[in-house]
Amino acid sequence: MQDINSACIRVHGTIKVSRLLTGIKRFTIMERKWLLPLVASSLISISLFLLATLSLGASSQGARSSLFNVFSSKKGDHPQEMYVDSKLVQIPPSGGPAPPILAYLISGTKGDGNRMRRALQALYHPRNQYVLHLDLEAPPRERIELARYVRMEPTFLEAGNVYVIGKANLVTYRGPTMIACTLHAAAILLRRSKDWDWFINLSASDYPLITQDDLLHVLSYLPRDLNFIEHTSDIGWKEFQRAKPIIMDPGLYMSKKSDVFWATQRRAVPNAFRLFTGSAWITLTRSFIEFCVWGWDNLPRTVLMYYTNFISSPEGYFHTVICNTREYLNTTVNHDLHYIAWDNPPKQHPLTLGLADFQNMSQSGAPFARKFEKDDKVLDKIDKELLGREEGRFTPGGWCVGNSDSGKDPCAIMGDSSVIRPGLGAKKFESLIVKLLSPNAFRSSQCVAHS
Ligand SMILES: *[C@@H]1O[C@H](CO)[C@@H](O)[C@H](O)[C@H]1NC(C)=O
Ligand SMILES: *[C@@H]1O[C@H](CO)[C@@H](O)[C@H](O)[C@H]1NC(C)=O
Ligand SMILES: *[C@@H]1O[C@H](CO)[C@@H](O)[C@H](O)[C@H]1NC(C)=O
Repeated sequence: MQDINSACIRVHGTIKVSRLLTGIKRFTIMERKWLLPLVASSLISISLFLLATLSLGASSQGARSSLFNVFSSKKGDHPQEMYVDSKLVQIPPSGGPAPPILAYLISGTKGDGNRMRRALQALYHPRNQYVLHLDLEAPPRERIELARYVRMEPTFLEAGNVYVIGKANLVTYRGPTMIACTLHAAAILLRRSKDWDWFINLSASDYPLITQDDLLHVLSYLPRDLNFIEHTSDIGWKEFQRAKPIIMDPGLYMSKKSDVFWATQRRAVPNAFRLFTGSAWITLTRSFIEFCVWGWDNLPRTVLMYYTNFISSPEGYFHTVICNTREYLNTTVNHDLHYIAWDNPPKQHPLTLGLADFQNMSQSGAPFARKFEKDDKVLDKIDKELLGREEGRFTPGGWCVGNSDSGKDPCAIMGDSSVIRPGLGAKKFESLIVKLLSPNAFRSSQCVAHS
C-alpha cells in the first residue's frame, strides 16, 4: 500500500515539476520571481535525482511528506492528493513550495545574555521556533533579563515562538551534559510545536551569514528528510585519545561545575556499533530527533549511555546513531552548514573570525559561521552587508510589512510568515547545496565505513 502511495506521489510530483517548469508564468510569484528560474534549473534537477535515489520503498511518513512538499503547488487541483495526510499539505500564498519551519536552540553561558539576544534578532523569523538556554553558570539575574526581553518584545508575543529555559542545566563543555542539554531542548521543541522540519543547534558565538528568508527559500526546494551532519568513521588519533579513555562528568551529579575527570582504566573500541565523529554543529530532521528522543529503538539510548563516559561526546553521539541506523544513513549530507576556520593542523578550538575573514565567509555559501568575539566589528559588517539588519532590530524579511519611511522598522508590523523574500544569500547557499548534493559528492560521503 505504501509503495503504491509513493508511486502515485512520484508520478504526481513529476507532473507538477513539469507544470512548474512550463508554467512558471502561471504562478503569481511576486517576491521570489527573479530567483525561480535559477532554482528551477538546479534545485529541481537535484530534487528529481533525490526522488529517484532516496529509499522510497521504506518511505516513512517523513519521506512522503518531504516529497510532497517539494512539489506542492496548489491544494485541491488533484484528487490524488488525498493520499497525503492533509495536515502535511501547506499552501504558500505565492506559489512555489511551502517554506519549512526551523527549530533553533541557541545556548550560552555566563555573560552571553546580550550576545544571545543579538543572535536571536539576527536569526528571527516568525515561522520558526526558538529555545534559549543560558546554562547554570550564568547568574539568575542574566536569565531573568533575557526572559524579560523575550516577554516584552511585541513580535515574540504575537508569534509565541521564543522560549527561554527557566530551569537551567549545568553544562560541561566536552562532557555528556552537553548532549543531555541538546536533547532536553530538542524535547521541549518537539512538545511546543508539532510541525517544525529541522532542528539547528547554535551557540552564542555563532552568527548567521544569510537571512532566514534565504535559508527557508532554498530549503523549501529540498526533501525534508535530509540530515546535515558532518561525519567520518576515520577516527584516527581520536581512537587513542577519545574512544579508549573513560571520563566522568561531575556535571551529572554535582551542583557546582568542575571539569571532567579521567579514570585510570581504558576500554576497548566498541564492536556492537561503529564509531563516527565529526562537527558538533548539526541540522537534523524532526523525524531523526524523534528517533533519538523517544527511543522506541534501543540504539539511541545505548549509544547515549556509552557516550556518558566519552570525552567530547557532542562530536560523536548523533553521528554514531545516524550512521548505525539503516533508515537514516542514506539521509545524511556530510556538512555542518557552518563556516569554521581551523588552524593547520587543527587544534582543539576553531579560530576566531574577524574582518579579515569576511570575504571568504560570505562567499562560502554557509548559512552560519563561528566563532566570533562578543560585538566584534565583523558582526556589524555582516549585519549591514549580508543581513540588512540594523542595530537592535530583526533581520528584515517578507514578513515585515510595516512602513519603513523615515527610519521606521518595517518589522514592527508582522505580515504573512510564509511570504519569503530571498536575496543574494539564497544564491550563495543554493550553490553550496548544489555542490553538496551533486551525484558524485552526495552518496559517496554518506557514513562511509573506513576500516
Ligand atoms: C550544540 O551546541 C553547542 C553550543 O552551545 C555545542 O557546544 C554542542 O557541542 C552542540 N552539539 C551537540 C551535539 O550537542
Ligand atoms: C543506501 O544507499 C545505497 C546506495 O548509495 C544502497 O546501496 C543502500 O541499499 C541504501 N540503503 C538503504 C537502507 O536504503
Ligand atoms: C581565504 O581563502 C583563500 C583561498 O581558499 C585562502 O588562501 C586565504 O588564506 C583565506 N583567507 C583567510 C583570511 O582565511
